[in-house]
Amino acid sequence: MRVERVNFGSKLGIILATAGSAVGLGNVWRFPYMTGENGGAVFIIAYVVCILLLGIPGMVGEFIVGRHSQANAARAYASISSHRWWGFVGLLGIVTSSIILGFYAVVAGWCLHYLGVSIVGGLKGDTEAITAYFQQYSADPVKPAFMGIVFILITHFVIVRGVQRGIEKASKVLMPLLFLLLLVIVAASCSLPGAFQGVEFLFRPDFSKLSSRVFLEALGQAFFSLSLGTACLCTYASYFSRHTNLLRAASQIAFVDCLIAVLAGLMIFPAAFSVGVQPDSGPSLIFITLPNVFQQAFAAMPVVGQVISVMFYALLVFAALTSTISMHEIGTAFFHEELHLQRRHAAWIVTVACCVLSVFCSLSVGGFGGLQVMGMSLMDFCDFLTAQVMLPLGALLTSVLLGWFVRSRVLHDEFTNWGTLRGLWFPVYKFGVRYVVPICILLILMHLFGVI
Ligand code: TRP
Repeated sequence: MRVERVNFGSKLGIILATAGSAVGLGNVWRFPYMTGENGGAVFIIAYVVCILLLGIPGMVGEFIVGRHSQANAARAYASISSHRWWGFVGLLGIVTSSIILGFYAVVAGWCLHYLGVSIVGGLKGDTEAITAYFQQYSADPVKPAFMGIVFILITHFVIVRGVQRGIEKASKVLMPLLFLLLLVIVAASCSLPGAFQGVEFLFRPDFSKLSSRVFLEALGQAFFSLSLGTACLCTYASYFSRHTNLLRAASQIAFVDCLIAVLAGLMIFPAAFSVGVQPDSGPSLIFITLPNVFQQAFAAMPVVGQVISVMFYALLVFAALTSTISMHEIGTAFFHEELHLQRRHAAWIVTVACCVLSVFCSLSVGGFGGLQVMGMSLMDFCDFLTAQVMLPLGALLTSVLLGWFVRSRVLHDEFTNWGTLRGLWFPVYKFGVRYVVPICILLILMHLFGVI
């Protein structure tokens, strides 16, 4: 028996929702700090290579599994193959996305706090004062943890009230607005004195900085940013129509995602170099750089600076929300359909688990630094474990499944929409999922574990 599935309002809507899942803190927060820690331009090159070679085929793969099976992650993987065993890939995805939601909510909570503070005009002072402010805030045991929970609860209520349609309508306006605002802030950031150094850092590669670590991190970032490897795309694709051109959708989303990430880089680094913030400051990078841009670039018109900063944090919170919704939806759809629970009960399972994890993650970078795993704070560990191990593993298993265990006919039908598209790229795609994607990911994972 097929359980009634919630549906998205329009075909454009579901593609927008998928893009909304991809565009989020991964682009605006994680990409700049990863770029800063990994040598600038060389990281961007490695990142783009990973997107083209592994990201786009990986996305198409998840789309195929989802649209073919029209079911939640675990059932989709089981039904496209002849072995029930493959359902574990879907289950792995559900676990991974819940862990991601746990630490992602902490950063989303920071953004929410910064939105509040910029509304009351509280972010003032020189670079040191702004840095100290962030350190003090993130080290507080209670406030950031509370904000993380608030963020997960907002996600929860959007998920259970089924206001996807509202979110879709809002996305159509807010996403382009985020893009425009990024352009304005990029211009402001590049107009600061000494900004050119930042542009150089982003676009002039220094190949001496290229290392295997750069590739590992670029791969993790590419998967994280595309929402790839957790069956998240598969869950969304289960709502796609039979007319959606999967390759085109994947390429468009990857393009928009990359563009926003690079713009975020152009927003952060010129300003960081200008005001003397280290590019490798880590997760705090955007929180200690941006308030400077808003103050200094608009020093002549402080009101404009404040309006822009409020708008920016509001849009960032919205972009983060469309991503957390997608992470939450994977688990909710699973519990709803498999345990035959009502959606609101199913959603509570995910919400409570993620809130608990989120509080511990927040404490591990704040009030309770002793919360460490393998020499990293719990938060960094969750980030490392998901982006660099679990996402590549999920994508690896998906491509092995599609390349070796699913009939070529099924792939071809999905790829060409049952023969209505020409499918010129099909042979390339087929070769990619069979050989290129699994071998590359396997090599990278083996390297990570020190096997080679
Ligand atoms: N891609 C999102 C971002 O860039 C984060 C995200 C949403 C995600 N859903 C995911 C990451 C599933 C991995 C898996 O912010």
